Amino acid sequence: MSERSDFIEACWGRPVSRTPVWIMRQAGRYLPQYREVRAGVSFLDLCRNPELAAKVTLQPVDILGVDAAILFSDILMPVESMGVGLDFSPGPVLEKPVATAADIATLRVPCVEEELSFVFDAVRILRAELNGRVPLIGFCGAPFTLACYMVEGQGSKDFSRVKQMMFSAPDLFASLMEKITETNRRYLNAQIDAGVQAVQIFDTWGGLLAPADYETFIQPFTAKLIAGLNRAKVPVILFVKGGGTMLDLVKQAGADVVGLDWHIPLDRARDVLGTKVAVQGNLDPSVLFGPTTVIEKAVRRILGENDGRPGHIFNLGHGILPETPVDHVRFLVDRVHALT
Ligand code: CP3
Repeated sequence: MSERSDFIEACWGRPVSRTPVWIMRQAGRYLPQYREVRAGVSFLDLCRNPELAAKVTLQPVDILGVDAAILFSDILMPVESMGVGLDFSPGPVLEKPVATAADIATLRVPCVEEELSFVFDAVRILRAELNGRVPLIGFCGAPFTLACYMVEGQGSKDFSRVKQMMFSAPDLFASLMEKITETNRRYLNAQIDAGVQAVQIFDTWGGLLAPADYETFIQPFTAKLIAGLNRAKVPVILFVKGGGTMLDLVKQAGADVVGLDWHIPLDRARDVLGTKVAVQGNLDPSVLFGPTTVIEKAVRRILGENDGRPGHIFNLGHGILPETPVDHVRFLVDRVHALT
């Protein structure tokens, strides 16, 4: 039995008692309570420990009063199981980036239930501990964003290696995308089987491409991932950072909710997306550095742009920044609730 929640209702575009709000990357370094846990354990070991992962997942729910919990993990965990070797210092570093057809041939589509059992254990612990208080969101990276890290081996300014593969060896690139898509399809379905109540697909780097190239090389894989989910009862959120100029293509990938960064006003995004998908976003995370008067004004603007339409989940337009004052985040959550 799952209880009615404003977050899930908003994902389906149904009426809510007040606008639900959660924060991308809400468990993390801006919280002293997170830093305290992290002081004794590496980031990877924290992700691999179901009890500790569950503990930090709950921190923002208790401290901020957000309307959803998001499982504490990282988009690169399934990639590690594919056989590339992963470390964090502090950003992701892969020991064996992929470059050739032979590299891609040796990548495994892992048995996620076995190799990532700690993730599903964390989900089961969390469902028991949350006990219906707020829904639990699972997640994965979009195929393109994961391909970016797998080819570059780390973050990059221009992601020129992965783009080089995409344009000069499209069949090779497609074979990589295929393996990533299948791995993450299994990974999200296993999260759903373990009990997550919504899933978000993070395409942090999708907006690096021209819309036509996104359509040719990327969107078919994201669409295939979404089509392959056991999602009758579980809404799917697709967040493509920088996707504001190609929302028609993002929408056609088939998610129930489209995540928006802050480069497009919410009302303009709604005009393109129509009434059948919900929206999530879209406050610039840096606004949280401003005084409460500035935060209040930005909240009112976004709520005004939404104009009372059903299917709005308030969130930032990207992950919260580590230097953000916690009391400003709490102010944001309270104001979204109070004004709606
Ligand atoms: O949202 C949440 O609270 C759930 C946990 C979560 C993390 N990473 C924890 C994390 C989620 C949903 C992610 C997604 C993720 N990871 C993305 C997509 C979203 C986005 O922000 O664009 C990407 C690109 C990654 C890869 C990644 N992991 C990077 C680039 C970094 C280092 C830089 C940074 O932002 O911290 C990480 C490390 C990471 N993932 C941390 C956390 C809390 C910091 C680890 C630490 O404690 O040192």
